[in-house]
Amino acid sequence: MVLIGDSGVGKSNILSRLTRNEFRLESKSTIGVEFASRTLSDLFSDRRGRQSRHRYETLLVKRDSNIVIMMAGNKSDMMHLRAVPEVDAQVLAEKEGLSFLEISALEAFNVEEEFQHILTEIY
Ligand code: GTP
Ligand code: MG
Repeated sequence: MVLIGDSGVGKSNILSRLTRNEFRLESKSTIGVEFASRTLSDLFSDRRGRQSRHRYETLLVKRDSNIVIMMAGNKSDMMHLRAVPEVDAQVLAEKEGLSFLEISALEAFNVEEEFQHILTEIY
């Protein structure tokens, strides 16, 4: 799985929440690429920046039928600073034929669900 998004949207923390159940309020910007892994044996028992859009389109160009893409809106805990209405994101996701979930690495909300959903689509 590849996590794509603008700097600071929370990719590293989503990854650490998923693989180590850790979250850091002060995490340094990732330089280069970061890897982590987790074995799931029990599986089946912000910003809408131009950059994000561009990265998604780059991925889309390389898309083949074996790739599953899902859109996530992280930091759902920061309601007071919401920039994109949930319904707008849902409309976009629908238009692009993607699944969409709002998640929070901080609150561990929907992170598991997000990845289980992707794995379910793959397998
Ligand atoms: P780059 O490595 O620069 O691409 O950034 P990133 O996408 O990996 O972001 P990172 O995980 O480093 O998070 C950036 C900041 O957002 C950090 O201060 C995190 O603590 C914070 N953050 C990440 N996820 C959440 C979340 O779900 N809620 C809140 N409130 N803050 C979050
Ligand atoms: Mg990072």
